[in-house]
Amino acid sequence: MKAALLFLTVAAPAAGLLRVTENSVAIIHDAMQKLERLWPGGKGAQILTEITSPPRYPPRDHGHALGSRLRKKFESRDTFVFAAFGSSVSAGHDNVMNQSWPFELERILKPTFRAMGFDFEMRQRAMGGWGGMPFAAGCLHTRAGDRVDALSWEWMMFYDPPCEGHHFLAEAGAMPSHPVVFGFGNAAISFDDNLGFDEFGDWNMKKQDRRKPFFRNGDEMFKGGPAREWKPNEWYLTDDYISQEETARWQREAGVKVRPELVVPLSDEMTWLQRTGVAPEFERQGHAFYPISVSAATKYVIDDPWYQVREKAFNINWHPGPLGHTLIASAIAHFMLASLKTALTPEGPSLAHERTRGPGPTLDNPLVGKPIIGKLETPQCGSLRPRKCNSGVQPTTPGTGLRVDPSSPNTWQYMISMQVPVRDTKTIDQRLTYHGTKQDGEIRFNFRAKRNNQIVMLCGAPCGWRCEGNFGYVSTRTQIWWPENESPRKNVSDLAYTIDGQAVPSSNLLLLHDELFSENGKFCPQCRQVADICQPVAEVSQGDHTVGARVEARSRADPDASGNPMVVEILELIVVG
Ligand SMILES: *[C@@H]1O[C@H](CO)[C@@H](O)[C@H](O)[C@H]1NC(C)=O
Ligand SMILES: *[C@@H]1O[C@H](CO)[C@@H](O)[C@H](O)[C@H]1NC(C)=O
Repeated sequence: MKAALLFLTVAAPAAGLLRVTENSVAIIHDAMQKLERLWPGGKGAQILTEITSPPRYPPRDHGHALGSRLRKKFESRDTFVFAAFGSSVSAGHDNVMNQSWPFELERILKPTFRAMGFDFEMRQRAMGGWGGMPFAAGCLHTRAGDRVDALSWEWMMFYDPPCEGHHFLAEAGAMPSHPVVFGFGNAAISFDDNLGFDEFGDWNMKKQDRRKPFFRNGDEMFKGGPAREWKPNEWYLTDDYISQEETARWQREAGVKVRPELVVPLSDEMTWLQRTGVAPEFERQGHAFYPISVSAATKYVIDDPWYQVREKAFNINWHPGPLGHTLIASAIAHFMLASLKTALTPEGPSLAHERTRGPGPTLDNPLVGKPIIGKLETPQCGSLRPRKCNSGVQPTTPGTGLRVDPSSPNTWQYMISMQVPVRDTKTIDQRLTYHGTKQDGEIRFNFRAKRNNQIVMLCGAPCGWRCEGNFGYVSTRTQIWWPENESPRKNVSDLAYTIDGQAVPSSNLLLLHDELFSENGKFCPQCRQVADICQPVAEVSQGDHTVGARVEARSRADPDASGNPMVVEILELIVVG
């Protein structure tokens, strides 16, 4: 520290700047310590550090790119912008929606950055119930907005096809602001696999019942419903949530057993984007990729009753609870602060080696050892990229939603998708669709192709496990949500399309769908999630165009046996080229 300050005294262009930097390093130091002390047991620093530097696949550049970016923002007194993309985990489902880690990250960093004279902005873009494309990848720049410095990718539970992950990173890399990307490997402390009770033969059986007698604030408080009471996340750290007496009794009487030997070594697995070979390619092109493994902290907390009794506050189910979100946020914040601190004291001798590029997770890297997965080659993912996108998924960049041609005489309703599963707690992510039946006529969307040979595509709204009502299909080539006991769905769309007023023949739809999504597809080969809900409609020349759609039931009866008219919902328009 002394050496670094001495250096600054010599090299800083002005004493004023020196003082600013000195103060700022002190502010960062305090903020980092505060985060470390948030987590009892004396292992706060290890817990936070390992989540963002998992031992088996630490970030290749040790945070260097992130640190330089933060330093630039600090020096120009500008705002560091983070756009959080991911699933229901990042959207904070089963919590009060402002408890999710993106908002927590903002709560943690904003005061610190402001004290240093710059700022932090979070753009929450997560959407539950569907993988990483086409509402994130496929529409990334539009939904993230401009001037984004960092993005997150959190769909580890979806096992997206490799080219969908590739699209996410390719679209991130193509943004003029060249954001760094945080990729989640997992988002939870692994209590489930490691904590059980002696007297039950089945390790996880009746865990919740077993916990019941010990706590005033039982697990029921996470059940949601209108009775769900909001408490600030940090309340769950206090004795008001679970007292020391309750914890002591638990320790004496619960018969809890820790079986670290059963740890599913989640923290040893690379993130999905690394395993599918797309992150290494992104890094080879000079971009920064930062893995996140919350389960890497398991070994520091699993033995500690303070953490054991708070299991539900960490993991409500597969969704983190309030403390889980705070843990994720504090680990990312800690990593950002550490990277900035290093960037502000770059000549500290002990830090010099950290600035060189680390070997990162490659197959020949002794850090990683034996291949964790078989495959690291880069998938071949087509050459077309989204050039324009209008999405009904909220929250998003204002003014980029679906826009109907005002002159088209139709009665399609603009509403929240009827396919969104009803949840106990209100969610921040919404899907605003155009919702139409045969009676509603033709809906038309205007769009501009900036070049020749661009292809316009419409995407429907996803269902949950199954679809509500007499659901019609946008895509021709899909069997998704089709009842297994029926003969396969025909290769048809339940929309009749027009382009600039001309009907589009069904055979064109099939050809275009294959052209974009088949094995050698030009846009996203074998990207089932996009292929299942999106239909390319026409290739167009440079200029203004109109794409139209009206319901014309082909996959099932309209109305159905109970008299319900077929409904088709349109959630997104993408132009690729
Ligand atoms: C979060 O939402 C709750 C419930 O709507 C509200 O009482 C609370 O003030 C909000 N907290 C923050 C930090 O926005
Ligand atoms: C739909 O197209 C696929 C691919 O060409 C084909 O294998 C399948 O048999 C077709 N399905 C029906 C029901 O015609």
